[in-house]
Amino acid sequence: MSHLFDPLTLRSTTMKNRVWVSPMCQYSANDGFVGEWHQVHLGALATGGVGLIMVEATGVVPEGRITVGCPSIEDEAHAEAFRPMIDFAHEHGVKMGIQLAHAGRKASTMRPGADHLMASKAEGGWQAVAPSPIAFHGYPEPRELTNLEIKLLIRDFAAAAVRAVDVGFDVIEIHAAHGYLLHQFYSPLANTRTDEYGGDFEGRTRLLVEVAQAIREAIPEEVPLFVRISATDWVDDGWNIIDSIELAKILKVIGVDLIDVSTGGNVHDAPIEATPSFQVPFAAAIRNEAGIATGAVGLITEPEQAEHIIVTEEADAVFLGKAMLRNPRWALSAAEKLGIKIDWPRQFEWSRTLR
Ligand SMILES: Cc1cc2nc3c(=O)[nH]c(=O)nc-3n(C[C@H](O)[C@H](O)[C@H](O)COP(=O)(O)O)c2cc1C
Repeated sequence: MSHLFDPLTLRSTTMKNRVWVSPMCQYSANDGFVGEWHQVHLGALATGGVGLIMVEATGVVPEGRITVGCPSIEDEAHAEAFRPMIDFAHEHGVKMGIQLAHAGRKASTMRPGADHLMASKAEGGWQAVAPSPIAFHGYPEPRELTNLEIKLLIRDFAAAAVRAVDVGFDVIEIHAAHGYLLHQFYSPLANTRTDEYGGDFEGRTRLLVEVAQAIREAIPEEVPLFVRISATDWVDDGWNIIDSIELAKILKVIGVDLIDVSTGGNVHDAPIEATPSFQVPFAAAIRNEAGIATGAVGLITEPEQAEHIIVTEEADAVFLGKAMLRNPRWALSAAEKLGIKIDWPRQFEWSRTLR
């Protein structure tokens, strides 16, 4: 029995299947505004049979963007730019999520392909901030956030979530993975603060917990809240899966609905062996030990592989990244390969019969 194309309901929001698009930066925003590229790119994905599209890391404030080409949702005008894409996806029965982000010490870079990493002021760059003045490899030293600035950031995350819901997003995801700000706070490798946002596990996870709490209180009851974490820093003295399970238990209690389980990004030379499904065991451990829904991600490329993850209950959904860039209609082909009948956009119907 196949389950990859079974619906999944979280709160009262139903994703029509468990094949989801992983958030992926497109480096194509102008002054933080999404535009034509996003319309075409997200539109292709929305006609490709998936249950949920998670829109790329989007700065809750302009300084939270990773590159100068990343989107932000800093005000209503920036939020409104997403509306046509959301409406189009909804016409095709696809739910839309947005990944709310702050890049912290890894912010203010050029778009990939530039001949230098950091964006100067003239190129639209800014001073990056972090829990502590500890630079990521190859980056300049960030400025330590004050206690007051941290409290304001919590408010910024909640306000961004409200704007996202107002414009039609169905799901909110907090980006707390890949070495960005919230991961920098919970990892002992990037956080040496001595106030209530540093120190032990409770102190280091406090900011993420308070952000999740503030968002949960600010958005409607029916809107699912996801958190993407890095389940391990892949080094002995870093954040690990035991910490992740403890964190997931806390997030579950405050109303987070799903943990999107990735790894790494906080240590530039961490020994990561990326093989098919290599992060799935982390999603399974969190699902089993914390009793919360999980999404698995990372080198999931084959329909049978994705099916296996769902059928064996290692995760509740699969997020596909690069495979979706290569083939935005991955889900339509996967269903066909697995012998499952799903609706195709009527514009594509003829292609089903042409061999
Ligand atoms: C072009 C590109 C951009 C990405 N941008 C993001 C992002 O905005 N947020 C995020 O959490 N992960 C991002 N990722 C990571 C993916 O979401 C995914 O976790 C990773 O690529 C592993 O999955 P895959 O093997 O299916 O690609 C990005 C990956 C790629 C290839």
